[in-house]
Amino acid sequence: MLRGDFMSIQEKLSELRRLKELAKLGGGPEAIRKQHEKGKLTARERLELLLDEGSFIELDMFIQHRCTEFGMESRRVLGDGVVAGLGTIDGRPVAVYAQDFTFMGGSVGEMHAKKIAMLIDLALKLGIPVIGLNDSGGARIQEGVDSLAGYGEIFYRNVMASGVIPQIVAILGPCAGGAVYSPALSDFIFIVKKIAFMYITGPRVVKAATGEEVTHEELGGADVHATRSGVVHFVYDSEEECIEGIRKLLSYLPLNNMDDPPYVDTGDDPERRDYELDNMVPADPYEIYDMYEVIERVVDRGTFFEVQKHFAPNAIVGFARLGGYVVGVVANQPKYLGGCLDIDSADKIARFVLFCDAFNIPIITFVDVPGFLPGTDQEHRGVIRHGAKVVYAYSVATVPKITVIVRKAYGGGYIAMGSKHLGADVVLAWPTAEIAVMGPEGAIEIIYRKELAKADNPQELVKKFVQEYRRRYANPYIAASRGYIDDVIEPSETRPLLIKLLRLLKRKRSIRRLPKKHEVPPL
Ligand code: HXC
Repeated sequence: MLRGDFMSIQEKLSELRRLKELAKLGGGPEAIRKQHEKGKLTARERLELLLDEGSFIELDMFIQHRCTEFGMESRRVLGDGVVAGLGTIDGRPVAVYAQDFTFMGGSVGEMHAKKIAMLIDLALKLGIPVIGLNDSGGARIQEGVDSLAGYGEIFYRNVMASGVIPQIVAILGPCAGGAVYSPALSDFIFIVKKIAFMYITGPRVVKAATGEEVTHEELGGADVHATRSGVVHFVYDSEEECIEGIRKLLSYLPLNNMDDPPYVDTGDDPERRDYELDNMVPADPYEIYDMYEVIERVVDRGTFFEVQKHFAPNAIVGFARLGGYVVGVVANQPKYLGGCLDIDSADKIARFVLFCDAFNIPIITFVDVPGFLPGTDQEHRGVIRHGAKVVYAYSVATVPKITVIVRKAYGGGYIAMGSKHLGADVVLAWPTAEIAVMGPEGAIEIIYRKELAKADNPQELVKKFVQEYRRRYANPYIAASRGYIDDVIEPSETRPLLIKLLRLLKRKRSIRRLPKKHEVPPL
């Protein structure tokens, strides 16, 4: 061979640079223009916003599909429609992938899926969160079963990674068919209004199957999933805000299940007492107050970051800092449905508690629950098995659990909402706490049925019995006398006391339990 046949080093370098530039173009300038026209950022623009400047290390840029059906040999790009790699967010490592809609609608073929699967494997080995930015037409039709196999590989890894590393997905375009299950198996789903939707079958299939006419937005838009289905956890108006939201969420999370969530000195005095709390719960039991105010006044100022804000508003869940430590806050919201537990709020609470437990985040529960929502709708849709999830989640959780009973703690709600009986480490009550099997009106109807039936003036009698019942049970002292409540405290003491307790409970050892493969949860 003549020496002149070799490419010079300069030529090799130029070739490498040319290929890398080509890869960065994804589906090409025209497809990028269309993406922008739809009001969407490209995969690379999204990653640039998400990661610390200059931190992205791209992996598997040269991956290509190997399909030859339907003329696919002439439709190849470097990277195969997904950009993946490692980077940092606020200096902490993460694994990221962003589907590139500009190449074949970000559709998932064998190699596209392999790239995501390899990234999850790497994230697991490194013990770092994995973040997916999804924008995809779903299974790449031309690749047939190889595409389905690819999805299966991703789903399997989502399950294996669950509870080991945080998994976060943002839906920034279509997410249809079986594709929805990778986000659904992740810990948190973010979505952006107008540009994104999620559904198992799209409007055309719905029309063919049921005759129902529905738009993408009505079927699986951001609002539907944020308010009604509860599929997504965070909803934003723009991609920029969404990505900022992901960065914020990560600031509360540990890198993995062996790590502690990051401590941050928030500058809020741990000894701060908020005297407004003393008058927060109205003396009149029928008057309401806003549980958000309680939470905001107790936790470090401005640190409450709510999860699933628009779904099941009768329950509140979210992350916050207390004395700089990350906590998971769970609360009933008396402003909606009187703070009742129902199917949706039970799902919301149970999943959040399980997440906190998996990732070493202590749980603070503020209770004001009149019980479970009555009615055929709830019963027929399975409030029994959904409600059981709350009992299950609190029972299996071994992280520090501190419960504050603010007002009502009635019936099954009392037990389910982080009671001593389910393993709460410390249960506190405000003097306004009322702990009973049920509310006075319901109780009177049952225990004094005969007397009321015979009475000339039953209304008067009900009033008298209710007063009596309230005197006897509308306080925390009977429960405290049994040791079900560890202390009755002044509301303004709540913050300093919770912080002191958190410091002490950090020493909590995980609880020894009988060996078993896993529970059989009331899914
Ligand atoms: C191959 C696809 C594709 C797919 C889109 N494209 N989806 N190619 N497989 N699944 C291609 C289009 O042909 C087009 O190619 C380019 O991506 C852009 O798509 P457009 O339709 O022009 O974009 P838009 O108008 O924005 O519509 C986006 C869309 C639509 C709503 C996603 O493309 C669509 O309905 N796609 C099919 C969605 C779907 O039914 N997927 C299968 C779901 S079932 P050109 O060459 O024109 O640029 C599934 C099963 C998974 O995913 C099971 C896992 C267990």
